[in-house]
Amino acid sequence: MNNSQWSDSAHEGEILAGQALDYVRAISPYVTGKPIDAVAREFGLTDILKLASNENPLGASPRATETLRAQNWDLNIYPDGGGYALKAALVQQFDLEPSGIVLGNGSNDLLEMVARAYLAPGRNAVFSAYAFAVYALATQATGAQVKVVPALPPEHPTMPFGADLPSMLRAIDAETHVVFLANPNNPTGTWVDQDALEAFLRAVPPTVLVVLDEAYSEYVDRPDFPDGLMLCRQFPNLVVTRTFSKIYGLAALRVGFAVAHPAVVAMLDRVRQPFNVNHLALIAAEAALQDEDFLAHSRQVNAVGLRFLQQAFQTRGMATIPSLANFITVLVGIPAGIVFDALLREGVIIRPLGGRVDTGGISCHIRITIGTQAQNERVLAALDRVLPQLLGAKGGSS
Ligand SMILES: Cc1ncc(COP(=O)(O)O)c(C=O)c1O
Repeated sequence: MNNSQWSDSAHEGEILAGQALDYVRAISPYVTGKPIDAVAREFGLTDILKLASNENPLGASPRATETLRAQNWDLNIYPDGGGYALKAALVQQFDLEPSGIVLGNGSNDLLEMVARAYLAPGRNAVFSAYAFAVYALATQATGAQVKVVPALPPEHPTMPFGADLPSMLRAIDAETHVVFLANPNNPTGTWVDQDALEAFLRAVPPTVLVVLDEAYSEYVDRPDFPDGLMLCRQFPNLVVTRTFSKIYGLAALRVGFAVAHPAVVAMLDRVRQPFNVNHLALIAAEAALQDEDFLAHSRQVNAVGLRFLQQAFQTRGMATIPSLANFITVLVGIPAGIVFDALLREGVIIRPLGGRVDTGGISCHIRITIGTQAQNERVLAALDRVLPQLLGAKGGSS
């Protein structure tokens, strides 16, 4: 806080921070992907490639952008707080009921609504190690306890670092009110199949909410991959969240939706901000929903890029975690933060899954969003330049 208007009041600042709830002070803040502009400023670079936040490399749904361009916006008017038109489009698209839908300012908002409505000190939420970071943040912000279940081991034959559903089941106790599970999961890309998920849902006590986070599910094209929206009909305690930030390409606008039993929706609506989804986001999402061509193209480019990078890393003898999502997580063998820094100097932003020391787990892995072919080749070339130097330096100093 030096050299700021607050520099004389550091002591008061400490006291004020101390007044916050203990469990809020204990939170480690979410670190977002490094913005392109920040890298440009820091390194004096112009041509920067960001493959750090699992955004769609093809841009936004053209239907969404055309719709936004074609209209005059009454920006002085509040958006439709009930999201009538977008809900109607979702009903049509997925054969849902409006009373079973909640809209969110990104699906992140929906995860927080679940936490606010169902978690509190004395309660807990269960999720896997290496799950999406927001599950811990949303849980901790309510004062509830985080119960992190160890993931499948790195040497697991089919799903290293994947969610261990039987262990998660055993972790559920009388204080558990929410289970979070992403399918596919971020940052690993791992997944659970239809049979395993159904068996899990049958065994979870019906009073415990299971939040199935399907932020990346539109990328998956496999017959054994479960469809949460179908499972919702069978399991009243299931809450499925989806987003327009990933395959639809609308991350900047912040919009997602949850599908759940109307009784659960009614509780989430109680803690929802009245106008939580903005007008442009509502309109764009509605248009994007029907953009079948864009979705199919995005899925295809992703599948090709994912295969390309998987093979490229295999050729280099670098282990990757199995992924069905729009990113790949690869073992770089040295603390991920060091590789992140070196790639920044090459103008490439990726996501390090650890800092500058090896703390075990996935701290020596980096996550790369699948880009276009040219982008995938660029990140590979950058890695080919920096990794031998870094690994050489490590060998030389040890
Ligand atoms: C698994 C998962 N869930 C939810 C989100 C939240 O996305 P948004 O709030 O943009 O919908 C993300 C974003 O990266 C994610 O990876």
